[in-house]
Amino acid sequence: MERTIENLRQYIRAGRALIPADTLILHGNLVNVMTSEIYPADVAIYQDMIVAVGDVSAYQGPKTKVIDASGSYLVPGLIDGHIHSECSKLSITSFAKGIVPSGTTCMVSGLDEYISVSGLEGLKEVFAEIKQSPLKVFWGAPYKTPYTFPTSTISCNFNPEIHAQVQTWPECFGVWETVREAVQELDEDTLGALSLSYKNRLPIFGCAPMARGNDLNGYLCAGVRLDHESYDHQEVVEKLRKGMHMVIRESSVTHFLAENIRAVTEVNPSLARRVSFCTDDVTAKDLVEKGHVDHLVRLAIRAGVSPMTAIQMGTINSAEAYRIDHLVGSISPGRIADILLVDNPSSFNVQAVIANGNLVARDHKLAYDLHAPKRSSLLTSELKCKPVTAKDFEYRVSLANGRAKVLSMEVKGPFVRKRRDVVLDVVDHVVQPDTDQDVLMVSVLERFGINGNKSLAFCSGWGLQAGAMASSAAPDDNNLIVLGTNAEDMAFAVNHLIKEGGGQVVVKDGKVLDFFSLPVGGIVCDLEPGEVAQREDEMNGAARLLGCNLPEPLMYMFFLPITAIPDYAITDVGPVDCIALTTFDPILELVEHT
Ligand SMILES: [Fe+2]
Repeated sequence: MERTIENLRQYIRAGRALIPADTLILHGNLVNVMTSEIYPADVAIYQDMIVAVGDVSAYQGPKTKVIDASGSYLVPGLIDGHIHSECSKLSITSFAKGIVPSGTTCMVSGLDEYISVSGLEGLKEVFAEIKQSPLKVFWGAPYKTPYTFPTSTISCNFNPEIHAQVQTWPECFGVWETVREAVQELDEDTLGALSLSYKNRLPIFGCAPMARGNDLNGYLCAGVRLDHESYDHQEVVEKLRKGMHMVIRESSVTHFLAENIRAVTEVNPSLARRVSFCTDDVTAKDLVEKGHVDHLVRLAIRAGVSPMTAIQMGTINSAEAYRIDHLVGSISPGRIADILLVDNPSSFNVQAVIANGNLVARDHKLAYDLHAPKRSSLLTSELKCKPVTAKDFEYRVSLANGRAKVLSMEVKGPFVRKRRDVVLDVVDHVVQPDTDQDVLMVSVLERFGINGNKSLAFCSGWGLQAGAMASSAAPDDNNLIVLGTNAEDMAFAVNHLIKEGGGQVVVKDGKVLDFFSLPVGGIVCDLEPGEVAQREDEMNGAARLLGCNLPEPLMYMFFLPITAIPDYAITDVGPVDCIALTTFDPILELVEHT
């Protein structure tokens, strides 16, 4: 995406057919997302740029390659408008292998999980990895990290001083995931980041689920340009009418497309050009089985949107929302040559992918070997926790023996935790977890070598009858989380992850049932998407052997530290009441034996 005087000179000459094109795509039908037309047109590419569309015969030279697109439609490369690729447990290289063959050539991301574990220097290493992949990432600088209230511990706290530095980087295209609560509470650091974005003319990307009325007005007065989370189509309509771009989220966990798209299919079709798509969090299994943004295009068509409109939502609408339409989102002269060959706009089967001017995928497979780069210790260093003992997971109270009334955080779905009051035995000053009542111990351990924080609380809903499970991939902080039926297995699980340098583990009676290594930052790996999908299935199978009957046991566990999920969470600073935004004491009452 570099535009030096010298390469501009070359691009302009190539555009005027004064130097021959590197590649011509001939005989295809152009899906022109700018004008909503479809017509036969050829395309000329010079280096990574589209230099001509239409009659390109003047652009052919003796060394020009020709791609025959007879019978295919030419569609711009697809854009995922908001994604945390790290949540898939795939490294950037592996993620590119998962999404580029299905047509996604660009994504907008904060890469915030990488920042939480490896800071700005680790982020630079990820930028280098992106450059050697066929994928383009339009990076948004997180408005502030950590995202938690109260503030938890991560390796890099994003603040206005860091924003002053990174907002001038060429990789930076906006301010990422600015949550409504931070704006509403007039958080000083958040306002500092937003104020700088005005100076640097960067768009502010939002995150304001359920923001309506005056709250939405106040939020918009901060300058937020778009949002990717609306719970129903009326919310979508209100946000559109108030000038926002809407990015419909269809993640592996939350499926909003069918409901949100009603803003277009039922309320007003004219709203469509300011609506686009994102996946936010997606599993390797879904990438393998369903596809990526191409799947969302097909879903929208099935919901009653015309193929042209659905394709615009996956391309130009996103590019305009994120102010990158001069670079991507359409097949026009001057744009980066990201072009898909598609069988038909209605069935939308991606046959081949050209990214940055190169044919990179055919028939849903990368057309060349892509290898992960060698990584420095920034992304491969060990978990910096001290080994633990069972005592670390014993909840000790002043009462020697008796009963404790306890607030247990009960999981009701991946994104809902409710209060459940239970009465547990106290034996020798230790509150006892109770499998009969489905009450486990849960702990988060700070793992960046900063303060050695360890929290401890009670949780329900997993149904474990034995053992423990732990993960160093746990967004957004990615501290080490462990839950279990007994302190010994919890300590064993944590020590295993420390010894192995990160990943996920399921243990029972001092034995490892299964371990999934995540050597890159303790959060992702370089396996193929299909292998990761299989490993996740196996890990969930191991959790089921402990008695867990949740659909995705490890995923439900690793969302526990997110304080944006109501009503309860746990971070390294303690169990958190996500409504009051404070830590709380889970012991409600101690009663002596009578
Ligand atoms: Fe997000």
